[in-house]
Amino acid sequence: MERLQKVIANSGICSRRKAEELIKEGRVKVNNIIVRELGVKVSSKDKIKVDDKELSKENKVYYLLNKPRGVITSVNDEKSRKTVVDLIPCRERIYPVGRLDYDTTGVLLLTNDGDFANILMHPNDKVEKVYVVKVRGIIKGDSINELKNGVVIDGVKTEKAKVKLRRTDFKSNTSFLTVTIHEGRNHQVKKMFEAVGFPVLKLKREREFIFDLSGLKSGEYRKLTPKEVAIVYSLEKK
Ligand code: URA
Repeated sequence: MERLQKVIANSGICSRRKAEELIKEGRVKVNNIIVRELGVKVSSKDKIKVDDKELSKENKVYYLLNKPRGVITSVNDEKSRKTVVDLIPCRERIYPVGRLDYDTTGVLLLTNDGDFANILMHPNDKVEKVYVVKVRGIIKGDSINELKNGVVIDGVKTEKAKVKLRRTDFKSNTSFLTVTIHEGRNHQVKKMFEAVGFPVLKLKREREFIFDLSGLKSGEYRKLTPKEVAIVYSLEKK
């Protein structure tokens, strides 16, 4: 037996919070009876409808995409731009786990499994996100130390980060670094570098947790293995 709002969210139609709203608004029926309380538990035998449409019992699917530049990280876009979901033809209603900016490339997971997505999006020291960053300017040790110790963005200090200078190029006045963070605040890496005066020119996520870009060219994707999915779920118990 599982909580009704969890079952609705896991079906991929919305978040758990939105599912709670739907229940409170009287838009959810269990076995043709409207349910407005949040505590109700249901089993796979119960027929659940949202706005009189039965929830489909979709298979859970998990993808790893090497996101190209110029694609938006959402399910649909009001300006009709290409979204990451358009890059993965599948029957299930998948959505991205977290987000990458329009011009950011690299590791992006997509799924229709709300629990899986929540585990990875919940701040966890074990879920590292590793970015390769190209910035304008020749960055020095003092700025790198500031980034490592945390800088204030949107009024809140970032947590400690690993920051490694890869190389500097005096000719083009640029520096290349690797940055490892655990948080996932909006435009976090760009804002961190802005805070120390080095605008980001290029940003690529090389790794998230155990997922890297091995074997995937830009725009390519693959399914996760059952073992990889299990490793993500094992984080829940830690
Ligand atoms: N940080 C950013 O600034 N942008 C991204 O896309 C990801 C992390």
